[in-house]
Amino acid sequence: MVQFPNQNGAIGVFDSGYGGLTILSEIRKRLPQYDYIYLGDNARTPYGTRSFDVVYEYTRQCVEKLFELGCPLVILGCNTASAKALKSIQMSDLPIWNPDRRVLGVIRPTVEEIDSFTKTRHVGLFATVGTVQSESYPIEIHKIFPDIQVSSVACPLWVPLVENSEFDGDGADYFVKKYIDQLLAQDALIDTVILGCTHYPLLLAKIKKYLPPHIRVISQGAIVSASLEDYLSRHVDLEAWLTRGGECRFYTTESEEKFKKSAAIFLSEQIDVRHIQLS
Ligand code: DGL
Repeated sequence: MVQFPNQNGAIGVFDSGYGGLTILSEIRKRLPQYDYIYLGDNARTPYGTRSFDVVYEYTRQCVEKLFELGCPLVILGCNTASAKALKSIQMSDLPIWNPDRRVLGVIRPTVEEIDSFTKTRHVGLFATVGTVQSESYPIEIHKIFPDIQVSSVACPLWVPLVENSEFDGDGADYFVKKYIDQLLAQDALIDTVILGCTHYPLLLAKIKKYLPPHIRVISQGAIVSASLEDYLSRHVDLEAWLTRGGECRFYTTESEEKFKKSAAIFLSEQIDVRHIQLS
């Protein structure tokens, strides 16, 4: 396996597709001084319905590519990858690649904050099939807050609605309402709902339309960016490697044109994107 030296570089943000752009935008708003590299594995999205082994292998290849591009730190801006690949990468790959580089996910920071939102201690989760089946959210929540009850619903059709720019169309209403009804039928005491997939903030308007108004909806962008700021303040050696030009480069495993068009839905700026081949 390749080894990567200690070096200065950008913060890498990875997602199976466009969803991680909701995380990247919030991180850049909060920490605009750093350079960033975004990598979307759009050619192989969605990850949400794939097996543990496949998600791990795809994610590992993408993190390796971001390390090759010089990133000392990579954020998995994808819940499915955080649920199914993060631990294996941290335990098996990082020690060989370079134990000083870091890979962080989006589940732990979200879980750490949940206590401040729920009063009834009944929480709902919308996520991909992979994230729900991994049980990462209930497991991580119960490690810190054993009294919180978690009910989960997998929403396999929400990512395709977003990826195909149908998130604000009339057709989306049916599938948004369907999964919300499933969740509320499981537990009527839920007062907080986690959007445990980085694509779902695009459906926020529709989700709010069908959720009872007393239920709070937690998107991860702001939570993950605050947690990253705190992490960097506590890991000064790693922080010192981050380059500070305020630039962001975008890479996709799919076509550049396709990425540019769809990314415009998530970002309010014109971007340059390069196709990248994974080995
Ligand atoms: N955005 C990814 C997540 O947060 C899921 C998209 C996919 O299924 O590839 O889980």
